[in-house]
Amino acid sequence: MRDLEEIRSDIAACDDEILMQLEHRMNCINEIITYKKIHGIPILQQKQEEKQQARLRTLADGNTYENEILHIFSAITEMSKHVQAKALIHGNIALIGFMGTGKSSVCRLLKDMLAMDSVDSDDVVVKNAGMSINDIFAKYGEEHFRDLETEALASFASFKQTVIACGGGTVLRQKNVDILRTHSRIVLLTASPETILERLKDDDSRPMLRGRKTVEGISELMNKRDAIYKAAADVIVNTDGKSILEVCEEIITKPIAFNARS
Ligand code: S3P
Repeated sequence: MRDLEEIRSDIAACDDEILMQLEHRMNCINEIITYKKIHGIPILQQKQEEKQQARLRTLADGNTYENEILHIFSAITEMSKHVQAKALIHGNIALIGFMGTGKSSVCRLLKDMLAMDSVDSDDVVVKNAGMSINDIFAKYGEEHFRDLETEALASFASFKQTVIACGGGTVLRQKNVDILRTHSRIVLLTASPETILERLKDDDSRPMLRGRKTVEGISELMNKRDAIYKAAADVIVNTDGKSILEVCEEIITKPIAFNARS
């Protein structure tokens, strides 16, 4: 049996090696990002990530520490995404758009793809008020809901590297747009009234849609808001007929997402 100190110094040497290799790996990630930006290749490629995971599983297969090793590699992958996100997105991403355009679902996936944090303004309003959006509207009216929404937004001011799903009416107040613009790239998700109706036909949680669950009713409200949404947006992504993953990939590959607002 080896001497205890000898084993410990062996471990220290391993750590030195791991640290050096991790730094080397992160540098490679940055090199790939630069290469892809120059050549206009999508930064995040799900297929490549899957290929890499499959290769690692084969490599670790049967190893005494198979589970532990795969666990460590999954953390490494996560951190690599974080490095990518930092290189790609300066600040936060705010998702705006009409009800049913997929802001919350896109927020959840985008956050994982970029290893960012996430927050949903409706969730924060509901939590702070201790009641549902329907109840806030019924008890106190829309203006009060909008005040709570502005308060929630203001509380995100110090957030960094966060995907923010905004409520569908958030940008109706210019003050809210001004707040978002100080720390976020604003991505507008759109969909046709037909798509919205299809997605929300069985949903009763949106007071603004009450009595408007027809293509005409939705179009009318959408037309009223259209110019406001577009004026607030840095990037517009149509979601009709696209999966959540496709929408996320499109957001990430929009060149504007790479730059800090000047
Ligand atoms: C609203 C949209 C809702 C929610 C509230 C009001 C609106 O958010 O904030 O019901 O005025 O468009 P979602 O767009 O997430 O449904």
